Amino acid sequence: MSRVGLVGLGYWGPNLARNFDDLGALGALCDTDPELRERFAARYPNARMYADYDELLADDALDAVVVATPVPTHFALARRALEAGLHAFVEKPPAMRATEMEELVSLAAERDLVLMPGHLLLYHPGVQQVKALIDAGELGEIFCIYGNRQNLGVIRRDENALWSLGVHDLSVILHLLGEEPAEVWAHGTAFLTPGVEDVVFCYLRFPSGRIAHMHLSWLDPHKMRKLTVVGRDKMVVFDDMELERKVTVYEKGPWQPADTYGEWRTRTGDIFSPRVPNDEPLRLECAHFLRLVEEGPGDGREARDGLAVVRTLAALQAKLDETVSPADRPGSGAERARS
Ligand SMILES: NC(=O)c1ccc[n+]([C@@H]2O[C@H](COP(=O)([O-])OP(=O)(O)OC[C@H]3O[C@@H](n4cnc5c(N)ncnc54)[C@H](O)[C@@H]3O)[C@@H](O)[C@H]2O)c1
Repeated sequence: MSRVGLVGLGYWGPNLARNFDDLGALGALCDTDPELRERFAARYPNARMYADYDELLADDALDAVVVATPVPTHFALARRALEAGLHAFVEKPPAMRATEMEELVSLAAERDLVLMPGHLLLYHPGVQQVKALIDAGELGEIFCIYGNRQNLGVIRRDENALWSLGVHDLSVILHLLGEEPAEVWAHGTAFLTPGVEDVVFCYLRFPSGRIAHMHLSWLDPHKMRKLTVVGRDKMVVFDDMELERKVTVYEKGPWQPADTYGEWRTRTGDIFSPRVPNDEPLRLECAHFLRLVEEGPGDGREARDGLAVVRTLAALQAKLDETVSPADRPGSGAERARS
């Protein structure tokens, strides 16, 4: 069994520690915070504990590193892991600039190492079911996809809604469509913290002509985690707030009867929810990483998916920067996170 070393035991890291431990792969832990080290050393007595990332990298018993530190630190930590010859699972997004992500992808490819971004939703059985419906042609030609990721809070001050929330929907939209956008637009406004957009609307147009939209906000009365796919024959909604009906298929669509000389009508059939397995997406994601570590990175699809997401986020951020007032620009969300 491969052994992983996890760096970052703040909010999200403990979930990764639990899953890798359950999978029998947790070899070591690392955090600069002494209180966290003490707490997690007691919980995982069989994992070696380090205060210093270099010591973790020097641990000969490890095959891979899992990075769950704040986003601005990801690129440097991931690069050092790959340079040390270790496979890397890096929480999303692994870099804040496309050039940095390209560097990580090249480094991993040169050394035949796994580089996997933490695109958790891709391992969600509901998202996988939507992907299977699209790929099987069930929905017919896909017209558009839109994501709603809104809530009141968590209000962040060093990362805007695009980078904090958009990475989830974007990873799914690019995965479902299997292409990168040819054109992007983003509009947003920083209401609370100068330069950190709280509400962002994004538009993406793909080479195939399909379009997508994302509404990202932490200033909203609704808690929404929803993705809608509109096809010519059927439409499907993935709603992560639903306990049981995570996926709903609508047999609805436009229709042109032969006898109406080009006039469009609509058609409404059944509405049904297929059963979605209850497996924890994070467990499936961790197991996928271990499988890659054992079998090798293959064609590096995960790393390239990560690059497509970072490239698109950076292009959307550039559009946001074009529309903010000059006074806001020096401290823009992305710039802060990059500093
Ligand atoms: N996939 C998801 O759904 C999801 C959800 C939440 C967070 N995340 C991601 O997880 C990552 C961590 O987020 P968080 O909210 O847990 O952050 P956090 O600030 O709560 O925790 C980060 C931890 O990293 C430690 N740390 C920072 N630099 C370090 C270094 N050089 N060496 C050792 N330890 C270091 C800090 O001491 C802290 O304990 C982010 O990338 C975030 O995007 C993912």
